Amino acid sequence: APKPIIAPSILASDFGKLFSECSRIIHDAGADWLHIDIMDGHFVPNITIGAPVVTCIRGAVERNADWSKGVFDCHMMVAEPQKWVSDFKEAGCDLYCFHQEAAAASKDPVTSPTELIRQIHALGMKAGVAVKPGTPVDVLYPLLDGEGEKPDMVLVMTVEPGFGGQKFQARCMPKVAALRARYPELDIEVDGGLGLGTIEQAAEAGANVIVAGTAVFGAADPAEVVRTLRETVQR
Ligand code: DX5
Ligand code: ZN
Repeated sequence: APKPIIAPSILASDFGKLFSECSRIIHDAGADWLHIDIMDGHFVPNITIGAPVVTCIRGAVERNADWSKGVFDCHMMVAEPQKWVSDFKEAGCDLYCFHQEAAAASKDPVTSPTELIRQIHALGMKAGVAVKPGTPVDVLYPLLDGEGEKPDMVLVMTVEPGFGGQKFQARCMPKVAALRARYPELDIEVDGGLGLGTIEQAAEAGANVIVAGTAVFGAADPAEVVRTLRETVQR
């Protein structure tokens, strides 16, 4: 199975001191990736940050040698994901994860998920595809099995996207298990309500990329939480 990757979500951080918060989590707590939630107020009923802020976080990371390998996992909860690919590349995004539901409903008919993945790859980023709790994963099989360029990661949301701090939805675990059975080497990310109380279920189902906002940023000892999440996935 692919290696465990722990990706704290900065949505749970204090945005007033973003740099020190990111430092605290990547550098001090030993996280693998930084999960950056981008919300546009259309795809989800909330607005967070855009490419200009990601540029600033990337700048801060570049100035700190120890962070040079920091992977920016940008979760694009936006209605028109094809619009922001190059902006996010320039901002320093490494993995551009768009929602299947947004691509399917896009007003831009030329931007099929396959074409979007091709554009993301052409700019040198990894591509992810996310599904909301109510979207079955079989809609992704043509993409994962097809002739075109394939996603590097699938994100199975375990809460309705839009807000941090929600309750983990265990009903999403069969989707993770189905994907894992079919794609043993695929990076499968889970996002929403993950923490020490829910990680066992996610690991058991086969998820290997673990997003955790509140559970990491709110912990008295974030390093301990990151370590425990990683160990549980590894088992
Ligand atoms: C929700 C976001 C999540 C969220 C996770 O729309 O996609 O990444 O920040 O936060 P917790 O871990 O607090 O549920
Ligand atoms: Zn997210």
